[in-house]
Amino acid sequence: MIADLVETLIAFAKRHDVSTEEYLQALAYLTEVGQSDEMILLGDAMHLSIAIDDMTHRDATGSTATNVEGPFYIADSPVLGPPYRLCSFDEPGHPLIVTGRVTDSSTGEPVSSAVLDLWQASADGFYEMQKPERGPDYLRAKVPVDSDGRFEFRTIVPASYEIPKEGPVGRLLTFLDRHAFRANHIHFKMDTEGYKPLTTQIFFSDNEWLRGDVVGAVKDDLIVDLAEEADEVRAKELEVRSPFFTASFDISLQRQVLD
Ligand code: BEZ
Ligand code: FE
Repeated sequence: MIADLVETLIAFAKRHDVSTEEYLQALAYLTEVGQSDEMILLGDAMHLSIAIDDMTHRDATGSTATNVEGPFYIADSPVLGPPYRLCSFDEPGHPLIVTGRVTDSSTGEPVSSAVLDLWQASADGFYEMQKPERGPDYLRAKVPVDSDGRFEFRTIVPASYEIPKEGPVGRLLTFLDRHAFRANHIHFKMDTEGYKPLTTQIFFSDNEWLRGDVVGAVKDDLIVDLAEEADEVRAKELEVRSPFFTASFDISLQRQVLD
């Protein structure tokens, strides 16, 4: 594989008649990307990460599509009691209740031991890591499913946001005349005994960046609809502000085959 990579690079240099000056510029750029800790971001923004993610998730059983993790995951999110919330009742933004069911992709049976590890951006487009002053466990939590594999959590509709663009990757996007916006999404990560780990994201069907997401990571199967409800009584019952949105997303896990 390495020999093929090297041959491909040499063929590329020949095809484009790359000069020593251009070659050294490219090396200096990659060095800067590494020193700025933006190597993964570069692969994300050039859509290499999602291409590799797609190839990695080849599964005939129809399990839920995977997606890139991105740089904003924090591992130690708390598991709170029900009703599960990623933020306080008063968090600015449109309240959202997400429900779904986790099942085994080969049998359709519920996976009652699953725990969803969730994180997302705020309504003004920031993750906890970018706004530590907003407090710990901001817009992230672990949510266990019930005995029938069902889950429900309360949050707010995340904003579309721009990936970090002050560094060398941002400069490359500007050079390529590309924007830095991600379609709004919620991240999911699950590591359930007996099943392949799943890292994915859900997207919302009304978003303007779905087709032009900067990391090219929107997969049709991961797009959900938002339904608005303006019923004060129901909102009170569900412990959210009115009006609120609901969305539903079922997850199908692929069995881990041990050899
Ligand atoms: C994210 O979704 O958090 C993300 C993914 C790839 C690059 C930057 C951000
Ligand atoms: Fe994200």
